[in-house]
Parts: sequence; structure tokens; C-alpha cells
Amino acid sequence: MSADQNKYSFAVLTLSDKGSRGEREDTSGAYIKEKLNAGGYRLLAYNIIPDQKQVIIDALLDLTDRQKIDLVITTGGTGVSPTDITPEAMMEVVEREIPGMAEAMRAASMLITPRAMLSRGKAGIRGESLIINLPGSLKAARENLDVVLPVLNHALEKIKGGTGDCGQHPL
Ligand code: MTE
Repeated sequence: MSADQNKYSFAVLTLSDKGSRGEREDTSGAYIKEKLNAGGYRLLAYNIIPDQKQVIIDALLDLTDRQKIDLVITTGGTGVSPTDITPEAMMEVVEREIPGMAEAMRAASMLITPRAMLSRGKAGIRGESLIINLPGSLKAARENLDVVLPVLNHALEKIKGGTGDCGQHPL
């Protein structure tokens, strides 16, 4: 863990109709919280909400514009079923997309399962907040988070105007 990471806050937003009704245990949300906590990020908010576009938009605006949380990780609702609406909500909220993060998650995931191509998850910036969509299952959330985890700190530093050297490795 780098000392820098402690300065960044995060929120986990689980998007699940069943989860929001208490009918499904949120193992993905629990995993993301644990993993980022272990990485030195500070958990400031956690919520399970239904797959409803305006509810998702409102929640994302609250976490970014009002609570100014640095990193918002969503899980669920990225697929192709009629209720999956996370990417459409993202399009209303994100000011600058980071296509490479979503592409990297899909590319790495394709080596694990061809079903990875069914995730329409996005990543992007609103204000000084980074929002990343992960798929909903624990397996998929874990595999996708693993892909972006190594660049989160540097991404957040840059989003906040940091002028650190991009050529410095390791991440
Ligand atoms: N990505 C990885 N790495 N591993 C997986 O098992 N599952 C896929 C995909 N991405 C999967 C994955 C499946 S089956 C679906 S339907 C989509 O994510 C969308 O998931 P969501 O609707 O729960 O967000």
C-alpha cells in the first residue's frame, strides 16, 4: 500500500433489484469494500439500490457532486437483460469517459470467459471523482477489479490535477 492511497475516499454502489429488496446477499459489494480497504482507500459510503435509471443517476450525483467521494465503484446492471441500465445512467453523469479502463477489463476478462463481452460497463470522470462500473457477480466483480486496481492511485492523482511523472514505474 502506498501512503498516498489513504488520502482517497471510495464508495461502493451495488445495483440490484433483488439486493435492494434484501432478497440477495451482496457478496460483490462486500468483496469490493474489503479489497479497497485493504488497499488503503477509505470507505465513505455503501448502498444497494434498484436497477432504475433515475435512482442510479441521483445516487451517483450525490456521491460525486455532494459528497465529493474520490472513487465510486458500482457493481451490477452492466449486462444485456432488460433491467440492466447502469451504462445508460453513466452516460448522464460522466463528463469524460475513460474507455481504456472498460476496454482493459473486458479484454482481460475475455481470457477467462467469452461472456465478458456481454458487460457494457463504463468508466469515467465527473468533477474530481472517478466512477467505474463492474459487473454484478462476485466472480466477475473480483476479476474486473483486479484489472483496474493497479492504476487507480495514479488515475486519481491525475484526475485531481497531479503533475507526477507518468513515466515512473512500477505503478
Ligand atoms: N467478466 C468476468 N471477468 N468474469 C465473468 O464471469 N461475467 C459476464 C460479464 N463479465 C463475467 C464478466 C456476464 S455472464 C455478464 S451477463 C456480464 O458481465 C454483465 O454482468 P452484470 O449484468 O451482472 O453487470
